[in-house]
Amino acid sequence: MKSYSVSFNKRSRLNRIPAITDEPAAQLYPLEADGLTERLATSLMIQNDFFPCFDWTFPPPLLNKSEPPASVDELFMHPSVNPEAFSLYLHSPFCRSLCNFCYYTIIPGRGIEKAERYVDYLLREMEMYADIMREKKCESVYFGGGTPTFLDDHLLIRLFEGINKYFNLTDDAEISIESSPGTLPRKKIELLTSLGINRLSYGIQTLDEELLAGMNRHYSVDEAIRELDVALELVGNVNVDTMYGFENEPDNALLGTLQTFYDIGIPSLSIYSLDRQRDNRDKTSGLPPKDESYEDKIRIFAEADHFLFQKGYRQLLQNVYAIPGKASYRHQVRRWDNLTLVALGVAAQGYAPRTPYQNYPAIKSYYKAIDEGRLPIVTVDHLSAEMELIREVASQLRFTQIDLESIQRKYGVDLDVVFADLIHSLIELGYLKRELNTLRMTDKAAYYNNIIPMLFAPDAFSQQLLGLPEEYLETFPVPSVMVQVGCTQSAPIEVRLRE
Ligand SMILES: C[S@@+](CC[C@H](N)C(=O)[O-])C[C@H]1O[C@@H](n2cnc3c(N)ncnc32)[C@H](O)[C@@H]1O
Ligand code: SF4
Repeated sequence: MKSYSVSFNKRSRLNRIPAITDEPAAQLYPLEADGLTERLATSLMIQNDFFPCFDWTFPPPLLNKSEPPASVDELFMHPSVNPEAFSLYLHSPFCRSLCNFCYYTIIPGRGIEKAERYVDYLLREMEMYADIMREKKCESVYFGGGTPTFLDDHLLIRLFEGINKYFNLTDDAEISIESSPGTLPRKKIELLTSLGINRLSYGIQTLDEELLAGMNRHYSVDEAIRELDVALELVGNVNVDTMYGFENEPDNALLGTLQTFYDIGIPSLSIYSLDRQRDNRDKTSGLPPKDESYEDKIRIFAEADHFLFQKGYRQLLQNVYAIPGKASYRHQVRRWDNLTLVALGVAAQGYAPRTPYQNYPAIKSYYKAIDEGRLPIVTVDHLSAEMELIREVASQLRFTQIDLESIQRKYGVDLDVVFADLIHSLIELGYLKRELNTLRMTDKAAYYNNIIPMLFAPDAFSQQLLGLPEEYLETFPVPSVMVQVGCTQSAPIEVRLRE
């Protein structure tokens, strides 16, 4: 199999965007309710590229780069829409080997020798947040990577002592850890449960031996299944990551893999579409190419969705399915609820109230910032109250549906008034359907699941997108559709946060 990965920094496809100019030359097309349905129908004919993918969060990252905050107090200067609770993300970049498709920030193999020092810094970073977070309740911890279960036992123990010392975990906190085959003997799983870990996410990708052989992942399917059996016995709430869309992937490879995991009783399954954007940039423009296999991917995804539904799994998020009552994933579900997310470690992405942020992706810069007594944050966005509201609307819609009543309760905004014409047109075109107080993306909308949610952006923001260079707008489907469609707001947005 072809090797896709030469560099493995997890970067948004937007990382090379030039800044938006303050005064865009063009004006956004004004809202005319009569022509909106037709304009939407035309603009949505453009080809989407990756499906489903996580890159397009709202607002698109890095468009409003601001100076990193000088202190934790400055990072937390806005009121929170979820004032009592927060969650925690920790990143461990170490893995046994670098899988040739992986787009995360990882340090493979012998790099694990640096882990002792890395854990020292993680603990120092935790301490920086402790004062401001102590009064609040941490409702979930997600320890991701990389492969955190590749860390030695004594390092995992030190980290969990730190978490319990600096943060106030609720009694029923969900505590997840990521893992991969070959790092999970029974003794390790026993240690994890003794540390309070109650959810395990295990990356296998495929059970097709031939596909697996070309991935630079070194284990046998039998070994992985044995580890999973013990994880099911001791942890129960187990998720397995699978992937599809590889070159030369046999027909039904994903369905066969899912069938086996269903048979052995895995209660939660994630299905990732292979994303090759980071390795296939067009060298002249620096932009990623279109994904020519996107139609195949949509077909494979639709078959998997159907299969999982038949077997009793329900969609928790766009690509995560679970059997109700047997598995949960509170951390990710709440993340899109604008819950504060304290991010620790290299490349970790967090969310302080109205402030998405990201830590340095390079370990040296990460260490340097902490040595200088600074938060190791490299980029932050400052969102207005309207933009925060739309962040929640767009994210929840992308991950299947939006509850109009809860938005009204939380932000005092009636989306049926603010986006009356847009909602009407999208329902008329069959992309949205209304179920009581819920707006849901239809199967037909699957092709545009990155775009339709973004159409709910405030008009002022879409207008700003016109300040991006023309070649950028031509290449990226989301902003280009947003500006082609023009204004979508039927009334002003006036956010009133609940008491
Ligand atoms: C952060 S990784 C951690 C899981 C674990 N280390 C493992 O791979 O076994 C989470 C998941 O991201 C997915 N992933 C990694 N690279 C990807 C890519 N290029 N395209 C799509 N999904 C990818 C894989 O399914 C992987 O299990
Ligand atoms: S084990 Fe997981 S995180 Fe590590 S390189 Fe492979 S896919 Fe990426």
